[in-house]
Amino acid sequence: MLFFIDTANLDHIREAAELGILDGVTTNPSLMAKEGISGEKNILKHYRTICEIVGPGRDVSAEVIATDFKGMVAEGKQLADIHENIVVKVPMIKDGVKALAYFTEAGIKTNCTLVFSAGQAILAAKAGATYVSPFIGRIDDIGWDGMKLIREINQIYTAQAYETAILAASIRQPLHIVQSAKAGADVVTCPLSAILGLFNHPLTDIGLEKFLADYKKVNG
Ligand code: E4P
Repeated sequence: MLFFIDTANLDHIREAAELGILDGVTTNPSLMAKEGISGEKNILKHYRTICEIVGPGRDVSAEVIATDFKGMVAEGKQLADIHENIVVKVPMIKDGVKALAYFTEAGIKTNCTLVFSAGQAILAAKAGATYVSPFIGRIDDIGWDGMKLIREINQIYTAQAYETAILAASIRQPLHIVQSAKAGADVVTCPLSAILGLFNHPLTDIGLEKFLADYKKVNG
């Protein structure tokens, strides 16, 4: 399972990249706004900086703002031109699916976002999306089972031999990462806090403390 970081924060991206386990980045308009990135020039520059931080071969999802086919295609092309790492992120709406099919034909990588059902995931795969992003946390937020959707999509994609990769999104905590891996997600995108949370275990801390204390006893 690939690890993407879900942020537009450059320090967080650098920290995750330095861990040596980062495979890519996802952003969205809310995450860009959180970092105060505004204006077309600054937005494109920020995406380029992210691509340069993570290095070659690591996908960086950049989301279109337009909601009509023509607008999405124009914006997507502009985003894809920024850097070879860019994956055009398109919402799961009618014109979005049309745009996904267009980008697939044009050889531009895509990420279909705001996916909340297996039916939507089928449409994304039919349009040839590179990634489909089911939003786990937001489904959990309304009292449903986000992880069940990952399992369902995995079952369908396997049965139908769809090539679209399942990107578990809206991940809120370390357990979501473990559950996504078990459910068959190809990629998980999560905030730095969830990635770092995976390190935590009291027995690791206690064990390391004891090893170092024992070493000190005999080595001074
Ligand atoms: C990533 O592609 C999504 O935009 C993101 O994971 C959404 O996360 P949220 O539900 O925590 O905003």
